[in-house]
Amino acid sequence: MNKAIIVGATSGIGKELAKILAENHYKVGITGRRTALLTELKQSNPDAFCISTFDISDTETSILHLEALVAELDGLDLLFISSGTGDFNDKLDFSIEKRTIDTNVLGFTCVADWAFNFFEKQKHGHIAAISSVAGLRGNRSVPSYNATKAFQINYLEALRQKAKHLRLPITITDVRPGFVNTAMAKGDGQFWVAPVEKAGKQIFTAIRQKKKIVYITKRWWLIAVLLKHIPRTIYDRL
Ligand SMILES: NC(=O)c1ccc[n+]([C@@H]2O[C@H](COP(=O)([O-])OP(=O)(O)OC[C@H]3O[C@@H](n4cnc5c(N)ncnc54)[C@H](OP(=O)(O)O)[C@@H]3O)[C@@H](O)[C@H]2O)c1
Repeated sequence: MNKAIIVGATSGIGKELAKILAENHYKVGITGRRTALLTELKQSNPDAFCISTFDISDTETSILHLEALVAELDGLDLLFISSGTGDFNDKLDFSIEKRTIDTNVLGFTCVADWAFNFFEKQKHGHIAAISSVAGLRGNRSVPSYNATKAFQINYLEALRQKAKHLRLPITITDVRPGFVNTAMAKGDGQFWVAPVEKAGKQIFTAIRQKKKIVYITKRWWLIAVLLKHIPRTIYDRL
């Protein structure tokens, strides 16, 4: 039986993927800060889920929680990072930027490093994490969100290079959604918003196929190409 941990499985994409993995006979460790939501998910399939409540930005304790969860699962094949946050911040309120950086950079790095070291010792494994199409360019309305997603994209690339250098079969999958219909999808002007069920299915397929980078939904690849090629003189005026 495959063993997985989903960091950030209380709602949205992480919760959906947890359900899909359970349906596909994975034993799944589910985490997040909201214990009641983790308990509710566990009650839907008690044999499939183990729960652990922790805040990813508390880097002192996250690792202890992850180690306890691996012991309970009795192994680990896949670690999936879905936890993330971001808010509009036109006034550059530092408390919003700090929360975003603490979660998407410090928390993310702590969990990703722990997982890589675990899989290096084990000599195989799979790390997948949700970054975002937003990480491809800066955005004046949500500066820290886009910047932290750029960090994640770059960090995942570094881990993939490291695995190759070590000649170890450690897969790194960078999941880049456009818009998915969850609490995170905020603001006007959204388009191509994917239902969470569709996003979950496409992510599961990408994991099974050991993809390096996947756009969710697939056609967001086109937006990614466009974004990367908009000249700076035009982009700065948007
Ligand atoms: N929805 C979109 O359009 C979209 C687009 C691109 C990328 N993404 C990315 O997709 C990921 C999942 O988001 P979602 O759309 O599924 O939204 P969501 O429903 O709000 O899920 C966010 C998850 O992150 C967890 N989380 C947030 N802060 C945390 C913290 N400090 N410690 C531990 N867990 C924390 C939440 O759990 P608790 O609150 O219980 O802790 C929750 O499970 C995020 O990384 C987001 O940036 C989403």
